[in-house]
Amino acid sequence: MILTEIDHVAIAVHDLEEAVNYYQQAFGAEVHHREVVERDGVEEALIKVADSYIQLTTATRDDSPIAKFLQTRGEGLHHIGYRVQNCQAALQAMIDAGARPIDEVPRPGSRGTTVAFIHPKGSHGTLIELVEE
Ligand code: CO
Repeated sequence: MILTEIDHVAIAVHDLEEAVNYYQQAFGAEVHHREVVERDGVEEALIKVADSYIQLTTATRDDSPIAKFLQTRGEGLHHIGYRVQNCQAALQAMIDAGARPIDEVPRPGSRGTTVAFIHPKGSHGTLIELVEE
């Protein structure tokens, strides 16, 4: 088994502060990490749950993929991050299984991770992110 953990569940939201406040009020959640990822046009707040995260994500510019998602689909589940030991090897295994990679090679993600995204088409409708810490 290549997957070692659910790394994060990513939820697209219009207003990050409002969403963080809601999670704080509803669950007593604390933000473990916040980061703007310029190349992806996103700002994220990570709420730790055991060894996994809820990743509340919003767009920082109108042309980012999250902005397009919010426009067309509204708020909601955006992708699942699966934690792996070796992103490159996991990406190759997925390609060999017929997956359609969005990233042909692993690239830097938030928190200093190495990541690769896989298109939902070819993966039973879920945008998958492989995450190597
Ligand atoms: Co992610």
